[in-house]
Amino acid sequence: MSTFRAPKGTYDLIPPASATHLAVRESLAALPRRAGYGYVETPAFEDTAVFVRGVGESTDVVSKEMYTFDDKGGRSITLRPEGTAPVVRAALEAGLAQGQLPVKLWYSGSYYRYERMQRGRYRHFVQVGAEALGSDDPALDAELIWLADSGLRGLGLGRTRLLLNSLGDSTCRPLYRAALVDFLAGLDLDDETRRRAEINPLRVLDDKRAEVRAQLVDAPLIVDHLCDDCRAHHDAVRTYLDDLGVDYVDDPRLVRGLDYYTRTTFEFVHDGLGSQSALGGGGRYDGLSESLGGPPLPSVGWAIGVDRTVLALEAEGLEVADPTRCEVYVVPLGTAARRRVVPLVAELRSAGIAADVAYGDRGLKGAMRGADRSGARFTVVLGDRDLDAGAAQCKDMASGEQVAMPLDRLAGDLLGRLRGSARDTAEDDRKAAL
Ligand code: HAM
Repeated sequence: MSTFRAPKGTYDLIPPASATHLAVRESLAALPRRAGYGYVETPAFEDTAVFVRGVGESTDVVSKEMYTFDDKGGRSITLRPEGTAPVVRAALEAGLAQGQLPVKLWYSGSYYRYERMQRGRYRHFVQVGAEALGSDDPALDAELIWLADSGLRGLGLGRTRLLLNSLGDSTCRPLYRAALVDFLAGLDLDDETRRRAEINPLRVLDDKRAEVRAQLVDAPLIVDHLCDDCRAHHDAVRTYLDDLGVDYVDDPRLVRGLDYYTRTTFEFVHDGLGSQSALGGGGRYDGLSESLGGPPLPSVGWAIGVDRTVLALEAEGLEVADPTRCEVYVVPLGTAARRRVVPLVAELRSAGIAADVAYGDRGLKGAMRGADRSGARFTVVLGDRDLDAGAAQCKDMASGEQVAMPLDRLAGDLLGRLRGSARDTAEDDRKAAL
């Protein structure tokens, strides 16, 4: 062990666990890509003002959790705590808002929040996100929710719940806020909660403490204060979700931790995660562009935390298939075989097979242990004598069955066995055509 450890609140991704993390990232990104979302990558840091103005000064994220420092040029820089404000900044800078709308973008990367570490809460974490900028069409809200929901279900997760709410807009929210402030003023709250009630009263609804919750039972709810346009928008989103077969739970107390949200808000929660139960979330942010000095640009999006999704998979005992996991492990025995194996394995990989080699002179027993550990379905043993015969010994690691395979057909034969009948049929067709 070295003197150094990963910084507090962070952890390293190391094989084999890192394969699951990567597979989750790829799987969550696959659907947005298929739905016309283009890849966007912004820097890991931004001008601090992007988050102060975009996410909101009164949020915990901005007031407590940002990694902010002055760079050598005296600029205030912040490691990104989230992806939406940077993506909108980038889209405005590139003039995308003047082109065809909506602009649909997806991303995947590292985010940083100075939080107290606990299970599912880290100072460095990874999100996959999708954003659609420039349309207030409720069908777009439904498309995005469906993409996230299907992505999580596609991983096999069955214990997620989707919570849905509307936070209104600049017409109805101020009126609701005033009603809520009035209500909160009559409660018995500690000083800090009272301060929060003044700065960001909606966040008080999200308080997890039983003594606060008990007092909030009769709190006014935003759903009862939506203006006609917000009500119609919310109803339309719900109808589209019903048509898509997406299950959701109306949660009139759902308030997310970032200030830019308007209208639709949602969160995916998982019951196997303990107190950090949110796997991901999102919503509309119709005013964010204007907060960043841009034109009106109604938009909607989400981000899913990859770290927590991996924990949820573990909680459900699920494994995600790793497409690059070793399929064929090749063991050379003898000097000539060792030389022949180098191009042979290259050929297997070019043919689309995930293949690895027993490097170094470990002897048959040591090499077979390597084969076991690799998880390969087949082990190919090539001795100098096999080389003379032009064949290798191929062992099916599950059944123990062993067959000789001609070296010049090795890639094709292995592909047939690995990919099953589809390839066999293709091979049969090819032979029949000859
Ligand atoms: P968020 O709810 O702050 O939303 O973060 C989304 C997800 O990122 C969380 O549900 C969680 O899984 C993960 N996450 C956040 N903080 C941590 C942490 N400290 N450790 C581990 N995972 C964490 C946003 O970031 C918005 N930008 C989502 C969005 C996109 N809204 C509209 N478009």
